[in-house]
Amino acid sequence: MTDQATKHAKLTIEGVSDPIELPIYSGSVGPDVIDVGKLTSQGYFTYDPGFVSTASCDSEITYIDGDNGVLLHRGYPIEQLAEKSDYLELCYLLLNGELPNSEESAEFVDTIKHHTMVNEQLRSFFKGFSPNAHPMAILCGVVGALSAFYHDSTDIDNAEHRKITAHRLIAKMPTLAAMSYKHAQGQPFIYPRNDLGYAENFLHMMFATPCEDYQVSPTIAKAMDRIFLLHADHEQNASTSTVRLAGSTGANPFASIAAGIAALWGPSHGGANEAVLNMLDEIGSVDNIPEYIKKAKDKNDPFRIMGFGHRVYKNYDPRAKVMQQTCHEVLEELGVEDNPVLAMARELERIALEDEYFVEKRLYPNVDFYSGIILKAIGIPVEMFTVIFATGRTPGWIAHWNEMISGPYKIGRPRQLYKGYTTRDYPN
Ligand code: SDX
Repeated sequence: MTDQATKHAKLTIEGVSDPIELPIYSGSVGPDVIDVGKLTSQGYFTYDPGFVSTASCDSEITYIDGDNGVLLHRGYPIEQLAEKSDYLELCYLLLNGELPNSEESAEFVDTIKHHTMVNEQLRSFFKGFSPNAHPMAILCGVVGALSAFYHDSTDIDNAEHRKITAHRLIAKMPTLAAMSYKHAQGQPFIYPRNDLGYAENFLHMMFATPCEDYQVSPTIAKAMDRIFLLHADHEQNASTSTVRLAGSTGANPFASIAAGIAALWGPSHGGANEAVLNMLDEIGSVDNIPEYIKKAKDKNDPFRIMGFGHRVYKNYDPRAKVMQQTCHEVLEELGVEDNPVLAMARELERIALEDEYFVEKRLYPNVDFYSGIILKAIGIPVEMFTVIFATGRTPGWIAHWNEMISGPYKIGRPRQLYKGYTTRDYPN
């Protein structure tokens, strides 16, 4: 909990003689915060629908400077992590606060490898889902159900229980993600293999069959690892805030992460990568882009350019730049750099970035704009895109949950501005 006020705000209210003095706290970087906790005792609530100007907690995990397109994980810029690190190393960094040395890294990778299998009884859960069930519906269900299997580590106040739970979730998400894909394909589940890297193992579980040996392209495995890395954490976004709110009730971490998965599914959040590809399919051709730009600007038209805009970034999302570069690398490696969908996306980006509506509202491509094009190029079906996002975001969710639970916290319980009926009597 924040402790030392660096200065104070004085709130004067008409008709109230004495101003209300509110402490102001400073972080290591970023905006100061005004502690409004005492307003309730003065008969007031703050009002901030969508929490646009609300800091919900202290955190040391990730910092975003939206005006300057900066994203730091434990102080390290995302561009440097994307170039020099890998996904499991970032998982360790998010969970522990420091990069692992070579011994710590080897131990962490080995630990994760040895938790990738899921209880065999979980396989029967999948039989209950219809063949055309959306894989996000399956993931919500089976991740929540994991809590039915781990009665050995349910004490959230026990740091060792929290640690094993973090390892289990990071390790098992790719397995469950691949199983949700295989279920839809009507193909047998492929077991994880301990001789493969994290992303390589996921792609092998996705695309291998028992019928023949399947080799994962190292370029595609590296692109998949980069995509997981770019999605690993993002401060107090909607799904992470959902995980914190669910966890603040003392709910077990599997249930809290399942709540985060559900929140991520929406097209305004993690569902945007799937929505980008559906949007590009709907636009159909570069010639139709001006018509859709016009629709996006029309207040009476619900259409929005998916993959554009962000609550925090009012500059380029730094992840989008790395994703764009990865997109070119993968498409070049696959020999499909003249990919028509990419051509349409790039033209849409060019036109939008020149249009005064997007310039004035500071709308730039976000992490979801290019990720879907890469995923489609490496053969991931569109309905699996948000499942990939959820898999990548798991270390961020669990790191924020652990940060909250390992320190003093309160149950999250916002108030409201009530506009309904005042007391009235039930008719005789
Ligand atoms: C993610 O929070 C995170 O960190 C999320 C995320 C993460 O890693 O966790 O970064 C991942 O969710 C990225 C965002 C993915 N969503 C999309 O790409 C969907 C399209 N984008 C929008 O729906 C929107 O930009 C949001 C939801 C992302 C942000 O919405 P805000 O902050 O509530 O902003 P807003 O909707 O009020 O938009 C401000 C203005 C509005 O116009 P006015 O009412 O001021 O006239 O910009 C317009 C909007 O109409 N606008 C768009 C637009 N996005 C915003 N107009 C056209 N196309 C768009 N994409």
